Amino acid sequence: MADRPKILVTQQVPEAAYPLLEAVGDVEANREEGVIWSADELLQRAPGHDYLYCLVTNTIDARLLEACAAATPRLKLVANMAVGYNNIDVAAATRLNIAITNTPGVLSDTTADLTFGLLMAIARRISEAERFLRAGKFTGWGPLLLCGADVHHATLGIIGMGRIGKLVAKRASGFDMKVLYHNTHRLPAEEEQRYNATYVSLEDLLRQSDFVCLQAPYKPETHHLIGEKELEMMKPSSFLINTARGPMVDEKALVQALQRGTIAGAGLDVFENEPAVEPELLSMENVVLLPHIGSASHQTRTRMATMASENIVAHASEQRPPNILNP
Ligand code: DGY
Repeated sequence: MADRPKILVTQQVPEAAYPLLEAVGDVEANREEGVIWSADELLQRAPGHDYLYCLVTNTIDARLLEACAAATPRLKLVANMAVGYNNIDVAAATRLNIAITNTPGVLSDTTADLTFGLLMAIARRISEAERFLRAGKFTGWGPLLLCGADVHHATLGIIGMGRIGKLVAKRASGFDMKVLYHNTHRLPAEEEQRYNATYVSLEDLLRQSDFVCLQAPYKPETHHLIGEKELEMMKPSSFLINTARGPMVDEKALVQALQRGTIAGAGLDVFENEPAVEPELLSMENVVLLPHIGSASHQTRTRMATMASENIVAHASEQRPPNILNP
């Protein structure tokens, strides 16, 4: 009888993931709450496994993949429990004949919900207002107390009109917002109509929008997509929302823009050097800062977890994993 495949789960994941994996292999798992293995620890532990089940907190670079490809058994597949996969060197994996999978689709609605929540929170100063109340400063209703910006009928600019961008546009229609979008390719007319969205250049989007939402994938071409020049193009009354990936925004330029009043505020769920956050941001009232919780609902995280397992199960059962990313 052939040896059972060896599976390594790098971080604690929803319970539903484990039985699926245990049915096809021997599972070794980091189940310590909140513990994230360092790159060196991963390099020590991963070689000698057939499958790696990982998270966006793990850097799966060429050095690690080469060590895993040289070991016995050799690594066959890395299942990322995330839709974004900028933590993985897919080109190196492809060269080494290691499959990479992700979890697309299942988190789009949940992330669009959070994007809209962040947009509402920064526009209507919800976090700031709660801090004010908890600090015992609420001494009575005031006509000028904590006034923010209207969301309804405002102009929303979506950069990246993929699965999540479209669902953000769908939510915006309930608020009678005017939706502009910029994307690597223009959507077919029928889709533009469905989302009531108008295609514009990046510059026009930045100049006209009251809210600019980043929903594009992070890759070399989108590194610092929003820097000093782009922030200068935005209206002083506008807000930047990022639920995509931190390095798409030049965080130092953003801090300066917020300090100078180049833009009115920012809602950030992701950071350039996550989990580190530019210290100046922490003391600003005109930002809402969240710890990368875009897809964090019980239902969605459970579905992402089982989807990552299903990719491993498929490969172990000699079937094509449903979410292969390699070209
Ligand atoms: C993703 O799936 O890419 C999220 O950012 C991590 O949950």
